[in-house]
Amino acid sequence: MTTREEQLCVLEEVAAIAAKWRDRPDMLIPVLHEVQTIAGNCIPKEVAMTVAREMRIPLAQIYSAATFYSFFSLEKRGKVLIRLCRTAPCHVKGTKETLSAFEQALGIKAGETTPDGLFTLEICECIGACDVSPAALVDDTVYGHLTPDKVRELVASLQETEGSR
Ligand code: FES
Repeated sequence: MTTREEQLCVLEEVAAIAAKWRDRPDMLIPVLHEVQTIAGNCIPKEVAMTVAREMRIPLAQIYSAATFYSFFSLEKRGKVLIRLCRTAPCHVKGTKETLSAFEQALGIKAGETTPDGLFTLEICECIGACDVSPAALVDDTVYGHLTPDKVRELVASLQETEGSR
């Protein structure tokens, strides 16, 4: 969120989504997933408070879910979220080399965001793409059979796409 108007706009959207599931705590995870996307890959305090108010769920429960699942983040992340799987099937097929390639291509370490705010690189557990391991998620898109060369091509293509926006 950059300006106050944009922030209010996002909060209105968040409120509308959360209000659809008032008194439905079982829908908290899908709601958090949706609002996190709208809020820029994170769940800032104002967003968590809006969800709590509209769903009529204690704020502590929102934070509990948001901190338990690694898919959620309370911290600001880059515009594009790259999540590399490190679970065994991917690990044995080359997560380590793939991670090094991502780190070199982006100029950051896992857990960091590029200085321009475009990319965040994270390590995660299985993303359900074991058949194409080693695999990564770029936002909601799966990239599989990754090699250092493929990673360099992918990052170059993402940089070109994001740079032209
Ligand atoms: S183990 Fe990596 S996607 Fe399942």
